[in-house]
Amino acid sequence: MSPPIFRLASLLFCVGTGALAGLAWRTEIPGAFSGALVWFALDSWRALRLTGWLQRLRKDPSAPPPRLDRLRGEVAERIQRLLRKQAREAAEHENRLRNLQLALQALPNGVVILDEAGRIEWCNRAAREHFGLDEQRDVAQFVTHLLRSPALVQSLAAQDFDEAVTLESPFSTVARPQRLEVRFFPYGQGRLLMLSRDITVIEQAEAMRRDFVANVSHEIRTPLTVLAGFVETLQTLPLGEEERRDFLERMARQAARMKNLVDDLLTLSRIEGGSPPDTREWTPVRTLLQRLDADGRALSAHVSGPDAPRHELVFEGLGTEAEIAGSASELQSALFNLVNNAIRYTPPGGRIVVGWALLPDGGARFSVRDSGPGIAPEHLPRLTERFYRIDADRSRGGTGLGLAIVKHVAQRHDAALAIDSAPGQGACFSLSFPASRIREGKPGNSATDA
Ligand SMILES: Nc1ncnc2c1ncn2[C@@H]1O[C@H](COP(=O)(O)OP(=O)(O)O)[C@@H](O)[C@H]1O
Ligand SMILES: [Mg+2]
Repeated sequence: MSPPIFRLASLLFCVGTGALAGLAWRTEIPGAFSGALVWFALDSWRALRLTGWLQRLRKDPSAPPPRLDRLRGEVAERIQRLLRKQAREAAEHENRLRNLQLALQALPNGVVILDEAGRIEWCNRAAREHFGLDEQRDVAQFVTHLLRSPALVQSLAAQDFDEAVTLESPFSTVARPQRLEVRFFPYGQGRLLMLSRDITVIEQAEAMRRDFVANVSHEIRTPLTVLAGFVETLQTLPLGEEERRDFLERMARQAARMKNLVDDLLTLSRIEGGSPPDTREWTPVRTLLQRLDADGRALSAHVSGPDAPRHELVFEGLGTEAEIAGSASELQSALFNLVNNAIRYTPPGGRIVVGWALLPDGGARFSVRDSGPGIAPEHLPRLTERFYRIDADRSRGGTGLGLAIVKHVAQRHDAALAIDSAPGQGACFSLSFPASRIREGKPGNSATDA
């Protein structure tokens, strides 16, 4: 039976029962009327229960419906189903919103949402780190009151959002500069999305690249100018045999200087761009030291000249059986750069000690100690910068790239470069390798010699 018919039937039943009861006292009509009243009272009571439940639902959406007649029961059930569906949808929306917020939080770029008036509505963690904004404290504040960069204020005032604005982060210090790039994206009706990104590293890399190109150009131009001058002189002036030989020698020196520079640049770019050295390639340390010994003596003879005394070159640990993991050619190049410096910067007759020692932790240290002029403390932190020379004249043909190469090779082999020196005290350059790169080779095991 459908609910309306059931309702009609219950009304008729009440009216009928009232009329029948009234029949005994011949009061059928008042009886029927009383039956109708009873039906009405019951019906109103159920209606009140339904509205009471609807009231309760506002506070507690899961409140169970009261027992009701079929029609109202069905109404209550449909309402309940609708509410459950709404709750599910709301939870889904909330979940989606939360995930979106989490994604925005995870962005490395700063995100600030501004309302139509330029007030902050929301910001992510990166924005907090960039500008020191606080999501709780700064909500509803005008962004221009908090970020007072003139370029940013002007861009907002002019509503000119084509160009990115670069500004200094409030956390920027001289020791740790932090530069930011801010862009505005209008959306919706007059609302703005403000995105920021940290461009400190990009700007520094750009500055380094510019410096590098300028340095290389300068380093090449100097010998090239000298060379061109000599060529012109040779072409225009009638020179004696002696003078010609002298000129050609000087030209050869300049050409060698340019060749050294290009060689060092190539080495540096090869190390920088190359894959990390193979840790399965083991080289006997003795082989490296023997080569250094031979090359060092030849260099000492070359730089001292025929008349001056040679350097006193001492090699310690030549009997070592240890092996070292990494690129043999890179290691040889780094170690020779240190020996090369010691020989070039120590006057002839000076003493140079090249040492190799195993450390208690299983690692090993390679060191080059000289009795040369030493290095003032202010230069020490900068020595490994490319093209950094304390005294370009004294460096005589050096490229200024030697220690930059040493530093790179050290990094690629997990080694630490230490420089210990004071003016007049000589200098000691050392490379400490970790235990993972050193092993005690078996005697006679030099097959891996590269
Ligand atoms: N053993 C040393 N004694 C004194 N000064 C040194 C020594 N080794 C390096 N230096 C200084 O460090 C500078 C950088 O060295 P390096 O990078 O090898 O460049 P280069 O030798 O080509 O000038 C040198 O110009 C020199 O002034
Ligand atoms: Mg050098």
